[in-house]
Amino acid sequence: MQRVLTFLAVIACIGISRFASGQAAPGYYDETYRPQYHFSAETSWINDPNGLVHYQGEYHLFYQYHPLGIAWGPMHWGHAVSPDMVQWTHLPIALYPDALGDIWSGSAVVDENNTSGFFTHTGGSGLVALFTHANAPQHPQQQSVAYSTDRGRTWTKYPGNPVIPNPGVADFRDPKVFWHAPTARWVMVVAGGQLRIYSSPNLTNWTLESIAPTIDTECPDLFELAVDGGATKKWVLSKSGREYLVGRFDGRTFTPEGGPYPVDYGPDFYAAQSWSHMPDGRRVWIGWMRGDAGSKQTVFMGRMSLPRELTLRTFPEGVRMVQAPIAELQGHRAAGTARGTTILRSGTRTVSGLGGDSFEIRAEFQANASTASEFGLRVRMGNGQYTTVGYRRTAARLFVDKDHGGGGYTGVHEAPLVPDGNGRIVMHLYVDRSSLEVFGNDGKVTLTELSYPDRDSVGLELYSVGGDATLNALQFFRMKKVWGPSPFITGLSGWRDVKGDWGDTMYGRQGRSGGDGFSLSSTTGGDFTYEGNIRVLGGYAGALVFRSDSEGANAYIANIDVGNQGVKLFKLVRGAFTDLGWFPTALQYNTTYHLKVVARGANIKVYLGNNLVHDLNDSSHTSGYFGLNVFNGTAAVQNVVTAP
Ligand code: FRU
Repeated sequence: MQRVLTFLAVIACIGISRFASGQAAPGYYDETYRPQYHFSAETSWINDPNGLVHYQGEYHLFYQYHPLGIAWGPMHWGHAVSPDMVQWTHLPIALYPDALGDIWSGSAVVDENNTSGFFTHTGGSGLVALFTHANAPQHPQQQSVAYSTDRGRTWTKYPGNPVIPNPGVADFRDPKVFWHAPTARWVMVVAGGQLRIYSSPNLTNWTLESIAPTIDTECPDLFELAVDGGATKKWVLSKSGREYLVGRFDGRTFTPEGGPYPVDYGPDFYAAQSWSHMPDGRRVWIGWMRGDAGSKQTVFMGRMSLPRELTLRTFPEGVRMVQAPIAELQGHRAAGTARGTTILRSGTRTVSGLGGDSFEIRAEFQANASTASEFGLRVRMGNGQYTTVGYRRTAARLFVDKDHGGGGYTGVHEAPLVPDGNGRIVMHLYVDRSSLEVFGNDGKVTLTELSYPDRDSVGLELYSVGGDATLNALQFFRMKKVWGPSPFITGLSGWRDVKGDWGDTMYGRQGRSGGDGFSLSSTTGGDFTYEGNIRVLGGYAGALVFRSDSEGANAYIANIDVGNQGVKLFKLVRGAFTDLGWFPTALQYNTTYHLKVVARGANIKVYLGNNLVHDLNDSSHTSGYFGLNVFNGTAAVQNVVTAP
């Protein structure tokens, strides 16, 4: 809002007569569908969570990342750290593709006793990542290792990669590794196709222990959980985060005793992975919420589910896994409201004062004292939109109906749920701009759903059909945004995206465009110094724009052109490009270059670092807006400042 006001004020001051095109740039983590308390990358595509590990007070989240687009592409491991698995700090990309291929899913462990030998010179412990190298034309999927001696900040790929070459199968990926104390060695589950189990004394020499011909999956996870918190333990094998089996594991072979059972009854929870080396023995996992692709988002794509604590509990039908939102989420509640017992008469009741687009609500119904055939809640109401979370009493089904949720991503999904031993049905919901996670009866069943309501569809309603429903208690909490201020450092304001897709990242204002993209500030100048740190992530060029009109059709542009290996100064006159100067020089991707423009009347000087690379005269444009440009690729500019 601040920016919009500043922008309007400046426009008013300089008295622009016609309407400038382009959108006022949304604030950091404030796009319409941007999750407020779920993890998403600053920009670009993400899928599976990877390398989840707790080490020296930090939770690490790595993730499948395509930094150059909002569709899946050559995979990297993006990286973030958190004190509580909710509040994240972004870190630079941890693993880039290399000659063995792209970096697909995998896991990370703490090598506490230096079994790998990687940490002999650095204090004896460190992080080791195991991942799939994939997609190189000459290389099939195979398992590789990287290690970090600096708490995950930088990674070294093991020179002996791959540590497990492909055994002659098309699908062989997603290694999940853990320390198996009874056999005192590392165990890896890896799949893509058939589940394979390997063991290793040192994380680099691996022995095949078993193949499970009937267990076909990607992103396997295998962990032991106590049954009902007691002494009896069972192993859980997760298949792609969609289904799980309960059984035994002897260090070599997993033997199923029950299942497969569904993990989640919504369509948008996938590829879940649990954290290794939890400090308190909990088993917590997080999944990729995968339904984003149809959402018309342009800056970021994909997000993670809330972290969920996993337990095994005995129900009349047998031992089942329960997923509860982690306790740490309570620390991110803002204002709360509680209501006591209410009888809902047949019909609807708007709950005034509650609602919004990012909140938690817990509604406990006394199902066995209700005569209604169906009861529940509607969230994100407005503009003809709503999403229903309801309970069909006679069918014993908890459901989400998002046929009117918004954005055209429709569906009705249901989970079997009988009232608990006290006759209750609990609907515990987390709504976050474009997602909904429903925990039924404290996580006995879950439904994970994306949908894309309008920003101002924020109403909330309770309803009951065909009789009365007893609502024992209702608790409502707004959730705080976990993302801080924009990391873009600039003295300019009023940014407007004229062309291309722009967002703020740790590298500054970052744009992606086929052809030329422009983001323009509302600040103008004639004679000045204008500078910034330009980093091209992929494709061709990133640039400083100056003396521009409001459309980027008349302007000067000074760029860092990594694609063509040089620094170019050019101009646009009524949309037509003319090169003014070309300075060839060796430039690299993902490297920051300082570019400075000094404009004095017709004279324009451009400096690359301290070197004067252009010094020429042109008098097409005398003043105009400061801005940024990206050409055929992805580039970011940081520390963007002007001086007289
Ligand atoms: C699951 C998956 C994995 C693979 C990764 C590639 O979503 O297909 O099996 O490692 O995505 O991004």
